[in-house]
Order: sequence, then structure tokens, then C-alpha cells
Amino acid sequence: MNFHTKIVRGLTSNPSRKYYSLILTEIKKMTDLYQIQNRSEILSPSLLLFKEILIENIEKIIKMAGDPARLCPHCKTHKTIEVIKLQLERGITKHKCATFAEAEMLAEAGVKNIFLAYNIVGPNISRAVQFLKTYPDVEFSVTADHEKPIAQLAEAMQKANQKIHVLLDIDTGQHRTGIPISSEAKNLYQQISATEGLISSGFHVYDGHQGHTDREERAVAIDIEWEKVVAFRDDLVNSGMEVPRIVAGGTGSFPVYAAKEESSIELSPGTCVYHDAGYTNKYPDMVFTPAAVLLTRVVSRPTPNRITLDLGYKAVASDPPAGERVTIPEMPDAKEVLQNEEHLVIETEKANQYSPGDELLVVPTHICPTSALHKEIQVVENGKVTEQWKIFSRDRKINI
Ligand SMILES: Cc1ncc(COP(=O)(O)O)c(C=O)c1O
Repeated sequence: MNFHTKIVRGLTSNPSRKYYSLILTEIKKMTDLYQIQNRSEILSPSLLLFKEILIENIEKIIKMAGDPARLCPHCKTHKTIEVIKLQLERGITKHKCATFAEAEMLAEAGVKNIFLAYNIVGPNISRAVQFLKTYPDVEFSVTADHEKPIAQLAEAMQKANQKIHVLLDIDTGQHRTGIPISSEAKNLYQQISATEGLISSGFHVYDGHQGHTDREERAVAIDIEWEKVVAFRDDLVNSGMEVPRIVAGGTGSFPVYAAKEESSIELSPGTCVYHDAGYTNKYPDMVFTPAAVLLTRVVSRPTPNRITLDLGYKAVASDPPAGERVTIPEMPDAKEVLQNEEHLVIETEKANQYSPGDELLVVPTHICPTSALHKEIQVVENGKVTEQWKIFSRDRKINI
């Protein structure tokens, strides 16, 4: 039995390890992909970005959308001005974000159409006013799903003599935010449309719960909800309201919405610009390649079958479940047995081939929170680290 067959057998007999078997083929490809000449000079743990792969991912996104004007990608994955500039250069002019720091980063990068897909409450209401005053040439949109913050936002806008675009946040089943399609939702949209200081600009439909690995099953589930959204939109339009935009989806639903001939759809994938091992596994139909990886070093070999890496949960996202935070392309049997703030302990049959100081490149399971743990990303081009890009909006607040 060769090494990989053994791993697959072991994984199959233990369903919780199925995760790795699914991406085995992908990670074998990755071993050849991530080559750097000067890696012994790089501090660890470090986040590295393979620029050629990033550009390929951006171009694949545009190709799938058919036209960059159909896109409103989320910037939360990279939080980086340079990535936005690469997208702007390729005609992606509308951008989505989740925080005021990200909105500010987008504005500083030169984006003129910014959608902060978050319900504005508390002190963020005055931040919205400040944002509009600071960037008067930006079309700025936010979400809402409740009459109280809508009224408070309107009052602040009227006082400041400003106008803000508001998209009704529709809950299509994730039950995170939003309002289900209903007469109450229609009343809310009417409230937005009729209130001075607010411009009713359409819907926000985020469906991160549609995580079916099977593309067909995913498409069917998304379509059921989409038809209700379209019927609701038609009802509002027939009642005399305008619904110009429907900003929809993330990476999982991106190909499904991209295939629709519906002029109001704006596609808002986020993760696939960098992609990661989690989505490689979850969405095997996706054509993207992880562009950001972590450089880590062995710091100890505490037992004959263990190595310890400098990759604690202050360096890589620690989303549950434990034991699945990274994929190590050159070590597909690696089992994560312990993680602390600055340590990740791995058990592997290959442990005796490693000693302290050895470097490894690993692919994070979830890149978005991983990026936010790093101050900068080391950009690799033609196999060499050439520059550092600041993870600009990792802080909660920049100026506004
Ligand atoms: C509101 C919203 N839109 C878009 C996205 C992007 O989704 P994905 O990470 O699947 O690309 C997210 C991700 O969290 C999100 O919360």
C-alpha cells in the first residue's frame, strides 16, 4: 500500500477526517505550486500571497461574472488596498464591505461605489454621516432590516443634510440578519422609500447557509429562495417603488447567480479572491486556487511522531472544529493534535524527517480571519518575496 492509499484508507475509516481526503488531490497540486527562493529569510509565522495566483483568481471571477459591472465583491478576505487596485484596474468599480474601516480603505483606494453590508446602529450612525462628508463623491450604501435604526439613520441624515442609499436586508434562510419576505418587509421598504435622507436602493440577499457541496443541490436550494426574491421585487415595483439593485451571495452561490440573466443582480463573492483550503473542500466545483499561504517553522519535535509549528491561533484562524485549521501540502497525513496561542502540534509519520528550523508552507482552512491576524502580507512574485502589502483595514477604526 503506498503512502497516499494508506492515508485515504485511514481517512475513510474515520469520517471526521473525510475533510482531508476530499482535498488530497488539490493539496498534491499545491505542493508544486508554492515555490519561493528566499524563504529562509522570511520571518515565521508569515502570511504570503502568490500574486500570479491572486491575479488569476480575479480574472476567473470576472470571466464567471461575464462583465465586471455585474460584480460587487466583498473585501473582507484581504482588507488590502493593493488588491482593490488590481480589481479597479480590471473594471470592478462596485465594492462591498462589512466595517467602516473597510469602507474607508475602499474609499482611499479610489472606489466610488461602496456598499457597507451591515445594519447601522449606535455610534455607527454618526460614522455614516462623517463618512459621507469625508467622501462626498462616493455613492455610499448600507443595509437595514428594522424600523428603529431606519428612523434613527434618517434623522441623522436630515440633520446633516446628507443622503444615504439603503438596501433592505432580506433573510432567505440563514437567519443571521435580515427580514423574511413578508408584508412587514414591504412596509419597511416603503418606509425607506418615503423617508427624506434615505434612498431606497434595492435588496441585500446573503445566503452563506447554502453550503451544499453538490453544485446541483446548491443551485436548487438557491433558486427556490431567488424566485421568492424576484416575486417580491416585482410586487414592490408594481406598487410604484424602485428596486434597482439586488446584491446577492458569496462564493458558494456566485456561479448560480452569475448564470442568471437578471440585470439588477450584483454578485458579491469575497473569499474566492484568495480562496482557501476550507472552500477548496466545501465547493469542489470552484475553479479558484488558494493564493495566500502561511510560512511556518518547526520549533520542536517533542516526541518521535510529533512536530510543533509556530502556528498558534494568533497566526491562523481558529474556527471550529479544532484539528482542521490548516492543510499541509507536503504532509497530507498530518493530524493537528493541539493548538495554543503560538503553537500547533502535528502528528505525522514523517516527523522524523523534520527538525527545528525547517520551514513549511501551509494553506489555512479559513483565510478571511487569518488575514486579519497579520499586519502585512508578503507578496511573492516570480518565486520571490518582492514587497509587503499592509492589511489596511484589520483594525476596527482607521480615522472615521
Ligand atoms: C454579507 C456577505 N456578503 C458576501 C460575503 C462573501 O462570501 P464568501 O466568503 O462566501 O465569498 C460574506 C461572507 O461572509 C458576507 O457576510
